[in-house]
Amino acid sequence: MLNRLLISLLAIYIPAVESCNGRVPVSPTGTCGPQQTMFNEAFCRCCYVDTKGHPTIGIGYNLDQPGADATMRKYGLNVTAVKQDCYEHTTKHCLTQANALDLFNTISYSDKVGCVERFVPGLPPTVKAAVVDMAFGGCGSLQGYPNMKDALMKRDWKRAADESTKSDWCGIVGPTRCQMDHRCIASGM
Ligand SMILES: *[C@@H]1O[C@H](CO)[C@@H](O)[C@H](O)[C@H]1NC(C)=O
Repeated sequence: MLNRLLISLLAIYIPAVESCNGRVPVSPTGTCGPQQTMFNEAFCRCCYVDTKGHPTIGIGYNLDQPGADATMRKYGLNVTAVKQDCYEHTTKHCLTQANALDLFNTISYSDKVGCVERFVPGLPPTVKAAVVDMAFGGCGSLQGYPNMKDALMKRDWKRAADESTKSDWCGIVGPTRCQMDHRCIASGM
């Protein structure tokens, strides 16, 4: 009885912890790009709750975003049932590895590239890949870094890199990912 009570209290008060369900191992490349972002985000075939508390699937695909319903249907899944896996800690409605990759390549990654191209057009590839990696925190969240944007517009890579580490993004993802994106931006390549 007491155990049951404790468990239900924990279920309510435990903060959102990232726990990948249906994990597919990914090797890091050590420089910014789609494969590194895949490693950074983790590759989870089943629903999990991300660090911001959003039900997420595949490689950082937020299931609360508009269009998630149609996207899941494209891969033969029902978004309600997929999210239910998150809430019930089950793994009954998962993407196949091939479909999760397809979702990343054709939807998630290209969406973020679009975000970055609108944020600051014409960035060199490594810098762009780092900002795309940051855009996985949410396309709109880039607008919260006006000083980084200003430095990127002026092609002041060192300052842009330093500004990137002042973002709340760094606090969320931790120093390893943050420092790699910093290096990529500072490279100006
Ligand atoms: C989707 O899943 C939910 C929850 O399991 C279910 O209630 C609903 O009927 C399903 N919808 C379709 C179209 O299958």
